[in-house]
Amino acid sequence: MGPQARAVCSLFFLMQVLGEPAEHSEFHLAGDYLLGGLFSLHANVKGIVHLNSLQVPKCKEYETKVLGYNLMQAMRFAVEEINSHSSLLPGVLLGYEVVDICYISNNVQPVLYFLAREDDILPIQEDYTHYMPRVVAVIGPDSSESTMTVAHFLSLFLLPEITYSAINDELRDKLRFPTVLRTVAGASHHIEAMVQLMLRFHWNWIVVLVSDDNYGRSNSQMLNERLASSDICIAFQEVLPAPQTNQVVTPQEREHLQIIVDKLQESSARVVVLFSPDLALHNFFGEVLRRNFTRVVWIASESWAIDPVLHNFTELRHTGTFLGITTQSVLIPGFDEFRLHHSRGRKPASNTTRLKATCNQECDTCLDTTMSFGTDFTFPGEFMVYNVYSAVYAVAHALHRLLGCSQTNCSRSVIYPWQLLQELRKVNFTLLGHQILFDREGDLPMPLEIVQWRWDANRRPFQSIAFYHPTEQLLKDVDNISWHTPNNSIPVSTCSRDCQPGQKKKAVGLHTCCFECLDCTPGTFLNKSADEFECQPCPSNQWSYKKHTSCFKRQLTFLQWHDASTIIMTMLAALGFLCTLAILIIFWKHFQTPMVRSAGGPMCFLMLIPLLVTYTLVPVYIGPPTVTTCLCRQILFTLCFTICISCITVRSFQIVCIFKMASRLPRAYSYWVRYHGPYLFVAFITMLKVVIVVGSLLITNISPTTRADPDDPKIVFVSCNPSYHKALLFNTSLDLVLSVVSFSFAYMGKELPTNYNEAKFITFCMIFYFTSYLSLCTFMSVYEGVLVTILDLLVIVLNLLGISLGYFGPKCYMILFYPERNTAAYFNSMIQGYTAGRD
Ligand SMILES: *[C@@H]1O[C@H](CO)[C@@H](O)[C@H](O)[C@H]1NC(C)=O
Ligand SMILES: *[C@@H]1O[C@H](CO)[C@@H](O)[C@H](O)[C@H]1NC(C)=O
Ligand SMILES: *[C@@H]1O[C@H](CO)[C@@H](O)[C@H](O)[C@H]1NC(C)=O
Ligand SMILES: *[C@@H]1O[C@H](CO)[C@@H](O)[C@H](O)[C@H]1NC(C)=O
Ligand SMILES: *[C@@H]1O[C@H](CO)[C@@H](O)[C@H](O)[C@H]1NC(C)=O
Ligand SMILES: *[C@@H]1O[C@H](CO)[C@@H](O)[C@H](O)[C@H]1NC(C)=O
Ligand SMILES: *[C@@H]1O[C@H](CO)[C@@H](O)[C@H](O)[C@H]1NC(C)=O
Ligand SMILES: *[C@@H]1O[C@H](CO)[C@@H](O)[C@H](O)[C@H]1NC(C)=O
Repeated sequence: MGPQARAVCSLFFLMQVLGEPAEHSEFHLAGDYLLGGLFSLHANVKGIVHLNSLQVPKCKEYETKVLGYNLMQAMRFAVEEINSHSSLLPGVLLGYEVVDICYISNNVQPVLYFLAREDDILPIQEDYTHYMPRVVAVIGPDSSESTMTVAHFLSLFLLPEITYSAINDELRDKLRFPTVLRTVAGASHHIEAMVQLMLRFHWNWIVVLVSDDNYGRSNSQMLNERLASSDICIAFQEVLPAPQTNQVVTPQEREHLQIIVDKLQESSARVVVLFSPDLALHNFFGEVLRRNFTRVVWIASESWAIDPVLHNFTELRHTGTFLGITTQSVLIPGFDEFRLHHSRGRKPASNTTRLKATCNQECDTCLDTTMSFGTDFTFPGEFMVYNVYSAVYAVAHALHRLLGCSQTNCSRSVIYPWQLLQELRKVNFTLLGHQILFDREGDLPMPLEIVQWRWDANRRPFQSIAFYHPTEQLLKDVDNISWHTPNNSIPVSTCSRDCQPGQKKKAVGLHTCCFECLDCTPGTFLNKSADEFECQPCPSNQWSYKKHTSCFKRQLTFLQWHDASTIIMTMLAALGFLCTLAILIIFWKHFQTPMVRSAGGPMCFLMLIPLLVTYTLVPVYIGPPTVTTCLCRQILFTLCFTICISCITVRSFQIVCIFKMASRLPRAYSYWVRYHGPYLFVAFITMLKVVIVVGSLLITNISPTTRADPDDPKIVFVSCNPSYHKALLFNTSLDLVLSVVSFSFAYMGKELPTNYNEAKFITFCMIFYFTSYLSLCTFMSVYEGVLVTILDLLVIVLNLLGISLGYFGPKCYMILFYPERNTAAYFNSMIQGYTAGRD
């Protein structure tokens, strides 16, 4: 016997093990085209236990899986509906062959059985293009693991496999699983729905418990990856111990479970996500109940979200709120009647248990168990059932096109599985309001539904509270949930309480969800959308108080028109202006009198006009500084002042020295007179001043700058220059030198005749000028603020007044009230008297 023949023989042997299907069984329906169905009617936590023996597992010894039985009924219902009530396949009978795969224990033999020909032979061939296996398509199985196992077999024959509940996204890989199609949304959508649920209720501190198998590991890894890009943290993650086959809790398992529940109790996380097959959870919830553990939101993965057996642990209602993610329920008309009718019409369990009965074909207990969960199924519109129903319909639609069916008949030709697969990928039809259309990866993203477990009578055990649409990736229609909290408020599950506005987070430990809250310091603010962990400094012209979320504009301070000091200063300036104008007029009227001439003659006007100009320039100190007003302050103002002071200097020089010059240096004196020495001097000083001012403008910038008040940061000053006092000192340095010079001359001439007594006033004026400016600059260098501007202005106005009134005032007084002294004769007598007195 060659190896090839041996292989065929061994396969044949396997076929024999499955045994002949019983007539009129729920598991078999003869037809022109057969569908294979793989469902878990029984399950065992440790699905691989049978590998110890050579016997096919006796599923009957496992626990009955009510949900699997129900799904199987959906397949039967769909096939019977297509056969009898629809015009999809007229004249063609669809049949099925269903096998209980016992979760993952028993999925190899059924596949071989499906792949074999009618004569139970699965030949070894080079080319299977024209090979006709027993079934044209396989519906199921349920778990991702068995779906993959089955897919590896079916890929060889390109036999379509439509799974109704395997969510693992590896199945999307069409290079590895070319024949797998799904009528269920993939794991990524389940995870996304779960995360959006958490975000919706602001839970960011969760516990993840996973089963010790592929399902738990792959899903928790996906959740971890998804959470890495969100603000949700996992407080801790634990692997649940795998229970014994007989569900008896061993001491080690009890210890492990106790540790987990202890950790749960200690944690501040009140949301627990559980990725695990339903059977592995019985012992865990047993422990939870034993410990009276309460106030938790349990989030169920799709594997146990609608498990009636766990729901029957009614004590669980005291442990908190149960939310589950599952496929959207669709009401299938007639399905309930089908199931009820079917169970009633069934014969009492026959006692003719066939010798070779295996997981296939015999399930007396299924019906009984299912019936005992009656309440769970009396509500119409079940979850998951539609997945199976639509899978069968997809096959029927593909067949419809392959067979070229019309309204009344089909061609009933030979169909090869690979043809059906091609056609299945192209189906596009509407079934009970849902579009059935597989995408490139073979997925049919059915909407998901979030359900809450209810235990009150007259309510559906799994009440829908929200929907998730995979195409939009959005949680929608979130309904009122009845929480376990005393006043039905949304449970809180956060590591740290959220910070108040204006508080930055300071991470504590590794998790971003655990933090302290620190107030932002004055001058900084928190922009939550930009960075929650760092307060940002305000821009320089803005300020904030402690714990602020934004900055406000600092208050600009400058001299205002309505300030008392401004009003006084303006009035003084106005007074000075009027007085100076009056003096100007009086001097003009008495231009030829000796008094005016002794005061300097035309030079008086050279002093009075700049004085008038400076008075009119006083308003540039009021209001916010601009480039123009700063230029006026720094150029025009000081320039006028310099002209004035240089005139005074020349005057004091002439008063004291002109006679000595005339007598001792006659040549110099004649040059001085001939070339209008005083005017030359004034012009020269003015030029010098212009050079100084322009130079200072070139090295410093003139645009107004702001500076915060060190005592009160919400106030900011505007000044003309970043170092205003230095510029001021630099600009007035020439004036100060001049004032010292004129003071010296005037001091020497303090004993001149009374009609030349301006020397005394010059002395005072110059001392005042000198000291006031030096003190002003000193004051400015230590203090900044609006007071500086006030003092600056005050010093200027007082100096102007000093010159106007001090220098010219007495002369006007004489001109107006003692006209008899304003004569050449009187002047001569005074000078003679003075000379006589000195000799
Ligand atoms: C749980 O509660 C029951 C009654 O309410 C009590 O008898 C039992 O001791 C409690 N168990 C624990 C572990 O606290
Ligand atoms: C549901 O739970 C009750 C009480 O625990 C039990 O008597 C009943 O048999 C359970 N039902 C099923 C179908 O397991
Ligand atoms: C079913 O068969 C068992 C033995 O296999 C027997 O003990 C029992 O009485 C039979 N029950 C009926 C109803 O015939
Ligand atoms: C369907 O029936 C029509 C007559 O009713 C017949 O002409 C046609 O050939 C049939 N088509 C097939 C595919 O049998
Ligand atoms: C599926 O059918 C609908 C209408 O029945 C159509 O709008 C849609 O474009 C079809 N999609 C594809 C991919 O053919
Ligand atoms: C939710 O509850 C509130 C108050 O209990 C009620 O006003 C609101 O209509 C409810 N919303 C829904 C969708 O039932
Ligand atoms: C509900 O109860 C919690 C504590 O039990 C309390 O913090 C919260 O303010 C309550 N909410 C309302 C709306 O009464
Ligand atoms: C906060 O930051 C966001 C994003 O960086 C930005 O769009 C927004 O303008 C900022 N808000 C303030 C007040 O700075």
